[in-house]
Amino acid sequence: MKYKKKILCIGAGYVGGPTMAMIAYKCPDYRITVVDTNPDRIDAWNSAELPVYEPGLDQIVKKTRGKNLFFAKDVENQIKENDIIFVSVNTPTKTYGAGAGLAADLQFVEKTARQILKHSRSSKIVIEKSTLPVKTALAMERILASGKGKITFEVLSNPEFMAEGTAMSDLENPDRVLIGSHETKSGLKAREELIELYSRWIPSEKIITSNIWSSELSKLVANAFLAQRVSSINSISALCEKTDADVSEVAKAVGMDSRIGGKFLKAGIGFGGSCFKKDILNLVYLCRYYGLKEVAFYWENVVKINEYQQERFIANILNNMFGTLAGKKICILGFAFKADTGDTRESPAIYIAQKLLGEQAELTISDPKALKNAAVDLAVIKGNIKYIDDPYMAAAGCHALLILTDWDLYKKLDFEKIYRSMVKPAFLFDGRNILDHKKCFKIGFNVYPIGKPALSHL
Ligand code: NAD
Ligand code: UGA
Repeated sequence: MKYKKKILCIGAGYVGGPTMAMIAYKCPDYRITVVDTNPDRIDAWNSAELPVYEPGLDQIVKKTRGKNLFFAKDVENQIKENDIIFVSVNTPTKTYGAGAGLAADLQFVEKTARQILKHSRSSKIVIEKSTLPVKTALAMERILASGKGKITFEVLSNPEFMAEGTAMSDLENPDRVLIGSHETKSGLKAREELIELYSRWIPSEKIITSNIWSSELSKLVANAFLAQRVSSINSISALCEKTDADVSEVAKAVGMDSRIGGKFLKAGIGFGGSCFKKDILNLVYLCRYYGLKEVAFYWENVVKINEYQQERFIANILNNMFGTLAGKKICILGFAFKADTGDTRESPAIYIAQKLLGEQAELTISDPKALKNAAVDLAVIKGNIKYIDDPYMAAAGCHALLILTDWDLYKKLDFEKIYRSMVKPAFLFDGRNILDHKKCFKIGFNVYPIGKPALSHL
């Protein structure tokens, strides 16, 4: 079949896979290929069990894979074959050298740019899909311009705003698509190519354009603002616990102001996920680099409040369970960083589990999608840990139950049955405020929500 456009995505991760599946689904006359240096990941994308769990993803991959969506390992050949290349490789926090612990590690992006240069035989549009520090396009362009031939590369910035767990609906109906380009003749021409692609299913008023630096920076800022709201409400949850105010009531009252809005005001055990912390730290690094100490300090505190919230949660467990957890069995319900994903990267559950094991508690961990990742995360931690699929079996014989992920299924559990199977007094720490606390208290649990008065029989 002759395809209208040939598109390559380098990086078959949580972003590369779902975004390209959506493009393939919406543009049946385009051929989309996704490559990765990790052959196991490509095999998984070509198998019945995809490497990423996302509601709705399986169906879209089934409809497109082998027709106009391909997952391949031959990176070099695919670079030659395709005219438009999305770069969707990982950009983790640097763990070594200058900027360690703050700056983004750009080695994978740089390697990708060098690979593109080395294997290209024709001019290409290269699109930054990964989240990158502002001015990365300059480095990409310098690498891509270092070749001797006549081939040219136009770099665009097209950051991805989807959230895990809702990736497919976010991709199908995004709040906006942002395309940053140089405002030169070739930059504007490349921008038009990308607009044409997204116009297949996204209304034109939602496709916004900007200069390339605004686009790169907007992505970091969007994540920082979202995380800041979570830290803001979590900081207030601490005050609610001291004053008998209820953080959900406060969030509702505050969020109903249309200038503030009600989203991202759910108090809990703090934000997790691969991006919020990494992107804010990257912003902090950039501000320091440009000598903006006060601005760096402001954003750094969003991360500090997040850590404080997890410490508070752990201290609350220890204090209410008579100051010792040694030999006590604790059931963790939910290990993913949020509901509807199996992803555990930077999940608060990792830190909480480590701390509880440090207190010599014995853990049973249950999660509908994230148990494999949980076992990998805790593999190097010493302690007594069991991984049990069934939440009732996981809770049986435990002294305390911790809700660490807001999975819907936990709201529907039979808590009378769970209570009967637990050691008394039975403790319930709802780190996501998703349960009916009064009902659980009536059953007999001592209930400790976040930012609300505790309901204790003791
Ligand atoms: P990921 O780790 O799941 O996937 C990245 C993939 O790139 C890996 O499979 C890795 O093997 C591959 N890779 C690295 N170097 C390569 C190379 N030179 N050639 C080919 N493949 C290579 O990461 P992710 O979660 O998909 O995130 C990717 C980027 O998107 C990051 O910058 C992230 O900040 C951003 N982002 C992520 C999300 C999210 O929800 N996860 C949302 C928006 C933006
Ligand atoms: C986030 C952003 O929402 C996406 O727009 C962005 O594209 C993505 O980061 C990224 O760059 O990777 P994601 O991390 O997948 O998406 O999930 P979120 O829904 O933002 O949740 C992040 C964390 O905040 C989760 O741990 C969640 O439980 C927590 N959260 C969220 C709260 O504690 N309270 C809230 O009210 C909302």
